[in-house]
Amino acid sequence: MVEHPSIGSQFQAQTSYSRYQMPGGPVWTRGAPPYKEYAEVLQWIELPSPAVSGGAALWETVAARRSIRHFAPQPIELAQVSQLLWATQGLTAGDRLRACASAGALYPNETYLVINRVTDCWQGLAHYDVRNHRLGLLAEGDFSADIAAACMDQSAATQAAVVFMWAAVVQRCAQKYADRAYRYIHLDAGHLGAHLQLAAVALGLGSVNVGAFYDDEVAALFGLDGQFEIPVYLTAVGKPS
Ligand SMILES: Cc1cc2nc3c(=O)[nH]c(=O)nc-3n(C[C@H](O)[C@H](O)[C@H](O)COP(=O)(O)O)c2cc1C
Repeated sequence: MVEHPSIGSQFQAQTSYSRYQMPGGPVWTRGAPPYKEYAEVLQWIELPSPAVSGGAALWETVAARRSIRHFAPQPIELAQVSQLLWATQGLTAGDRLRACASAGALYPNETYLVINRVTDCWQGLAHYDVRNHRLGLLAEGDFSADIAAACMDQSAATQAAVVFMWAAVVQRCAQKYADRAYRYIHLDAGHLGAHLQLAAVALGLGSVNVGAFYDDEVAALFGLDGQFEIPVYLTAVGKPS
């Protein structure tokens, strides 16, 4: 036993549910919007409709999943990006329920992309508009070196055709779960990463999940405050080399 519990063990204890004590934490205001929608972006791209039937066999896909860290220089298709977005955050029942499970169906994680090489698409930073299945361009340019630097110089992020970055709007989950939300946003992100990797295999693409990153640098790249909206997880995707 350590005499002074680490911040990690304090977090675990203070966000634990027990029959006798429920976790407290700050009171978060209710009414966080279920989607982040940018009023203004540089440009929109309507995404092709995703396929919702057919595709690769599940067991073969699971058996083939592996982390891929080296990617070919060829671009990937916009339709593939559309399919990956749908397989993770796409609406699959009305305008609320999505492809991935989420605690309380609150979906706190927003999807951002670093687009390096995608056909019929700009190069730059983008945000996925879930409700309209479209991408909004936030900044145009080559950000491959920036995202790799923010991911502790992991070359997979430079080589990737596209890097997915999920950032949690904490209030969206905390309005219901208080500090336990900090568990759920990470659990939710794990589902997103898993769906994305399987969907990538099904499309003949490779991917690697990235949990090692400089939080402040990833937040700054996408213009997030890093407190109310926090980077949680990334996945680099491309054609395996
Ligand atoms: C939460 C999490 C974080 C990870 N972070 C990184 C990372 O930052 N860089 C990396 O190269 N791989 C990362 N990985 C990939 C693991 O190293 C990989 O899944 C593991 O070695 C098993 O190999 P496999 O995915 O090929 O089965 C991460 C995986 C998970 C689940």
